[in-house]
Amino acid sequence: MLSAEKNRVLTRVGAGTPMGELLRRYWQPIGAVSEFDAEPIKPIRLMGEDLVLYRDLSGTFGLVDRRCRHRSADLAYGYVEKHGLRCLYHGWTYDESGRCIEQPFEQQFDPKGRLKARIRTTAYPVQAKAGLLWVYLGPQPAPLLPDWEPYSWENGFRQIVFADVPCNWLQCQENSIDPVHFEWAHSNWSIRQQGKTGPYSPAHRKLAFDEFDYGFVYKRVREDTDEEHPLWTTGRVCLWPNGFFLGGHFEWRVPVDDENMLSVMWSFIRVPNEAEPYVQERIPCWRSPIRDPQTGRWISSHVVNQDIIAWVGQGRIADRTRENLGASDRGVSMVRKQYFKDLEAIAAGRDPKGLIRDPGRNRRVELPTINRRFFREGLPRREYEQDPLWGKVLEDFRWHYGQPDEVRREFRRAMGLD
Ligand code: FES
Ligand SMILES: [Fe+2]
Repeated sequence: MLSAEKNRVLTRVGAGTPMGELLRRYWQPIGAVSEFDAEPIKPIRLMGEDLVLYRDLSGTFGLVDRRCRHRSADLAYGYVEKHGLRCLYHGWTYDESGRCIEQPFEQQFDPKGRLKARIRTTAYPVQAKAGLLWVYLGPQPAPLLPDWEPYSWENGFRQIVFADVPCNWLQCQENSIDPVHFEWAHSNWSIRQQGKTGPYSPAHRKLAFDEFDYGFVYKRVREDTDEEHPLWTTGRVCLWPNGFFLGGHFEWRVPVDDENMLSVMWSFIRVPNEAEPYVQERIPCWRSPIRDPQTGRWISSHVVNQDIIAWVGQGRIADRTRENLGASDRGVSMVRKQYFKDLEAIAAGRDPKGLIRDPGRNRRVELPTINRRFFREGLPRREYEQDPLWGKVLEDFRWHYGQPDEVRREFRRAMGLD
């Protein structure tokens, strides 16, 4: 249980709030490079700030305040120029550093550009990595954008999936340190959705939670596994401060504002050895619907959709004064304590957990990874198809509902299935 005050501190993300300031010290993924092929301007809401992310005609990405500094027109309807983003209303133009670089009419009357020189809009740094666009809203100097090892794995089909989730980010992130939910929210619920009443999946018997440099690891023993099994020896990763890493994919819970979260998945599916070499030119991205328009109910057929139902069910902002934590929630308590430690650290002028500032340490940084060998080296097709876990991955994209046909087709081609 948390007091109402502590719950408020951990869940509010606006500028100037303690958690808002903490989360601003980490790069956040908010878009995919491939989205900008069709439309060079994208409105973004991030930690309560309304912004526009754009790619200008020279290919430079920028993230600036959504309102024009002239008379507040919406820059999401602007147009990109060779350099910068132009307002649709009177043509003022901003560059990626937030400078106003053109004021077409004013320049005739003010050749020295005094008004122009005075204007600066809010602008934040943007970096592309792994097909994602990452932004940093915190104080300078910015830490390095982590170069996690899976971004460099070869011979895999990568895709980026977004979902708009109407609840606070923290209840989603608490799911990153919650091993027991796999048994009920995924395995057993899926059995019930198939119309069967059992048998249920192997039960959890033992849990452990450990801290490491870039987050926490949870480990478990189920009825069907023992302490030699990688679920215990390696475990899964609650990535600091708002990510989740399961080997084949990352998930980030990006705070849109106090009551909304953008779910960002980066998925890597290894091609069978017979389909090598496979080089993916462009990482596709898509948005997964979470509600069935016919019935109005949440979609429950896919793994992350099942998670989302759990999260939104906890309320727009979960009321942690009403919860009753048990032994399965030890990891949840650990991460909450760590957020409070981080808040103390930044109040004292120190770095919070997990930032990387040394370029020498930021090359293909390894995280605890079950099946690393499979991701790196793959398997011959026959073994792949017959594997109880990987075989299913080839059949269907199980994590998010609504994979578009063209992504499905591209995936099948990559895997050599057609
Ligand atoms: S409101 Fe943007 S240029 Fe006038
Ligand atoms: Fe889950």
